Amino acid sequence: MRVWDAPVRLLHWGQVAAVALAWWCRNDTGPLHERTGYVAIALLLARLLWGRWGSRYARFAQFVRSPRATLAYAQAALVGNAPRYIGHNPLGGAMVLALLANLGALGFTGWLYTTDLFWGYGWLASLHQYLAWLLLALVALHVAGMLWTCWQHRENLVRAMITGEKMPPSGDDVA
Ligand code: HEM
Ligand code: HEM
Repeated sequence: MRVWDAPVRLLHWGQVAAVALAWWCRNDTGPLHERTGYVAIALLLARLLWGRWGSRYARFAQFVRSPRATLAYAQAALVGNAPRYIGHNPLGGAMVLALLANLGALGFTGWLYTTDLFWGYGWLASLHQYLAWLLLALVALHVAGMLWTCWQHRENLVRAMITGEKMPPSGDDVA
């Protein structure tokens, strides 16, 4: 069945490319780093809009759960006892928010540093740098959690994020 619509998939892999490029040229003195950073911000804003008006599984309201439900899911996932979700599972939903919030803060501090008012402030450059490292750590967790879920449910989630297709729900799966 179709789960991830085309904008979700394009925005995801576009974001991966933009962040990788911004990271790769982070020491670039030319405009390349700022431009790729702005592309990342544009993709983030588009994802926020799509989270409100996109198709069913793209919507924040579909996959953002309460802290209590997220914790309960995390406990079940750690012991390999979590149900399969057709959309993002509660922990994945929390990770989506963390990744997007971090990207927003990263883009904002990067832009702020280029303004006349804040140019040259060492603490702001450091903050921007720490946020970039934090994003890297979150991405590592994101990929690790995703691989763990793949293993638990014998399902290729990366392929699903490329084709948009997943096996329909069965048994105790959460649709
Ligand atoms: C800069 C790096 C990355 C960022 C910022 C990022 C961000 C995100 C976000 C925001 C989502 C939610 C998708 C949505 O609803 O729009 C997501 C999901 C996903 N990402 Fe990433 N991601 C990154 C890297 C990766 C990499 C390297 C892989 C694979 C090797 C990956 C695989 C996936 C998969 C499979 C999902 C769907 C998870 C699920 O089935 O619930 N991501 N990612
Ligand atoms: C995904 C987005 C971004 C990532 C991953 C990222 C990452 C980084 C990192 C790691 C550095 C530190 C470079 C070093 O000294 O080793 C850096 C520096 C910098 N970034 Fe970004 N950045 C992003 C977005 C942006 C944006 C949107 C802007 C501005 C429009 C920006 C402007 C700058 C500037 C001006 C510096 C140099 C600060 C200094 O002099 O130390 N960045 N960025």
